[in-house]
Amino acid sequence: MAKYNKLAGKHVLVIGGSSGIGRGVVEGSIEAGARVTLSGSSAKSAATAVAEVQAAYPTAQVAGVACDLSKDSVEADLEALFIEAKKPQPIDHVVLTAGDALLIADVQDITLEKIRQVARFRMELPLLLGKVTARHLARSNECSLTISTGGIADRPSPGWSMIAYVGAGLTGLARNLAVDLKPVRVNAVEPGFVITGLWGAMGLTAEQLEAQAKAVADKVPTGRAATVEDVAEAYLYLMKDRNATGEIVKTRSGSNLV
Ligand SMILES: NC(=O)c1ccc[n+]([C@@H]2O[C@H](COP(=O)([O-])OP(=O)(O)OC[C@H]3O[C@@H](n4cnc5c(N)ncnc54)[C@H](OP(=O)(O)O)[C@@H]3O)[C@@H](O)[C@H]2O)c1
Repeated sequence: MAKYNKLAGKHVLVIGGSSGIGRGVVEGSIEAGARVTLSGSSAKSAATAVAEVQAAYPTAQVAGVACDLSKDSVEADLEALFIEAKKPQPIDHVVLTAGDALLIADVQDITLEKIRQVARFRMELPLLLGKVTARHLARSNECSLTISTGGIADRPSPGWSMIAYVGAGLTGLARNLAVDLKPVRVNAVEPGFVITGLWGAMGLTAEQLEAQAKAVADKVPTGRAATVEDVAEAYLYLMKDRNATGEIVKTRSGSNLV
């Protein structure tokens, strides 16, 4: 067994690995010698992602599974995803990066419907994923679940109350699941601004995203906006370190310092 290259030969399931940060985790895991199963919201997005990854890494062991996580059947859909994913090899690590567009709203425009919409991907899904993960991973500290949150709870911004609420909740969830799922490790990654398709889904044009990335680069100590290749490292680290559980790893360009 590799002493430091701990992902070699492991099986990583990246839920939301079809694009964005999850795609970075898929590629990083493959470069580390892991087998990867990625999920996307549709058969088309999963198949496209697999084809692109295979073109970049011709010897990669990568499979794609369609799993739309926006439905009330989310627990059964996760169960089906795990059963399909583990067919060639048991799953060692689970990473959750799937998420819909962030719902930003003036406090007077918040409705019960919007709260429930925000909760779907950032409250209900991670909690039920913890439940399903516990059923499918070996009871070992070599196995892990890593979820994704964001830093808005620490740096409030007008209109972001619903997102700050679930963001703070996700850090608490990772810590408590670490106890509930032990010895399986549970952690969270808290990225700062990362250039991904998420911002396009939230209505930013390519020019606006470029302007936002430049504004971030001008401000933060690292002098550049983060890419998925940067923040993927946090997920790779948390999968590998058997001593890390209940941790929130922040990768945010030093934005908290300025
Ligand atoms: N980007 C940032 O600046 C940033 C900062 C902090 C936190 N985050 C958080 O990090 C996570 C990943 O963000 P990202 O920027 O990588 O987002 P992204 O590029 O928009 O990717 C989102 C992923 O979620 C999947 N997804 C969307 N709707 C789905 C559905 N109905 N069912 C199943 N999967 C679905 C997408 O799959 P398909 O492509 O197949 O539809 C895609 O793989 C999110 O929770 C986000 O809030 C992002």
